[in-house]
Amino acid sequence: MRPIIEVKNVKKTYFNDEVETHALRGVSFDVKQGEFVAIMGPSGSGKSTLLHILGFLDHPTKGKYRLDGKSIDQFDEPELAWVRNQKIGFVFQMFNLLNRTTVIDNVKLPLAYAGIKNGEQDELAKIALEKVGLSHRLDHTPSQLSGGEQQRVAIARALINEPSVIFADEPTGNLDTKSGNQIMDIFSRLHDEGHTIVLITHEPYIARFAQRIINIKDGLIASNKTNHKPIKKPISRR
Ligand SMILES: Nc1ncnc2c1ncn2[C@@H]1O[C@H](COP(=O)(O)OP(=O)(O)O)[C@@H](O)[C@H]1O
Ligand SMILES: [Mg+2]
Repeated sequence: MRPIIEVKNVKKTYFNDEVETHALRGVSFDVKQGEFVAIMGPSGSGKSTLLHILGFLDHPTKGKYRLDGKSIDQFDEPELAWVRNQKIGFVFQMFNLLNRTTVIDNVKLPLAYAGIKNGEQDELAKIALEKVGLSHRLDHTPSQLSGGEQQRVAIARALINEPSVIFADEPTGNLDTKSGNQIMDIFSRLHDEGHTIVLITHEPYIARFAQRIINIKDGLIASNKTNHKPIKKPISRR
């Protein structure tokens, strides 16, 4: 079967005020359907740049990238918005929720865009929130929740349209170890259910949950190795 993610010699250069930054200098790898991959590397190594390209939020400067066999330049802007809505689930370090909007309405947002009827939106949002253990928080606003709970809302929102791939950029970066473990528990479960996950982290204990770990340094892949013993459950829960 064709890999869901195909990256071939991708380069990204930012041009700002006559300064060129070579954020990615020729990166190649594949991700198969159903794989759970962690991307590691020091700050500034190009991880977020790479994830933006993988999530069709940005164009490569050079090289080829295909998601599900499709390249970003096959779509115009409205089509791209639709592809992002339907195929891609994004989870960010800072949660990126609407702070004055209830939990359930935050999770429903991608469905409203997809033109799904209001009654059905409620039903689907409740199912997604149940999956992340937040059925008792539907009418709270994000500011009334802990960081870990807010990230669970963001995961429910990312899942709501049943995307082909879930991309997460340091999803535990703002959380304590215990909440981080709970988030990784959820990602592990989603992986068991067949979801494809690409997750950025610079914490080895988080990367250990993945089946494969890609290390990036200075915009290049330093290593790309199978993790023979991915952990299914957090290590220190006592
Ligand atoms: N929009 C941008 N304009 C200019 N330079 C950028 C931009 N985004 C990132 N960079 C630079 O590209 C490099 C890689 O950044 P990034 O992908 O955010 O790294 P990481 O996520 O690994 O910390 C850094 O040197 C960063 O300063
Ligand atoms: Mg980053």
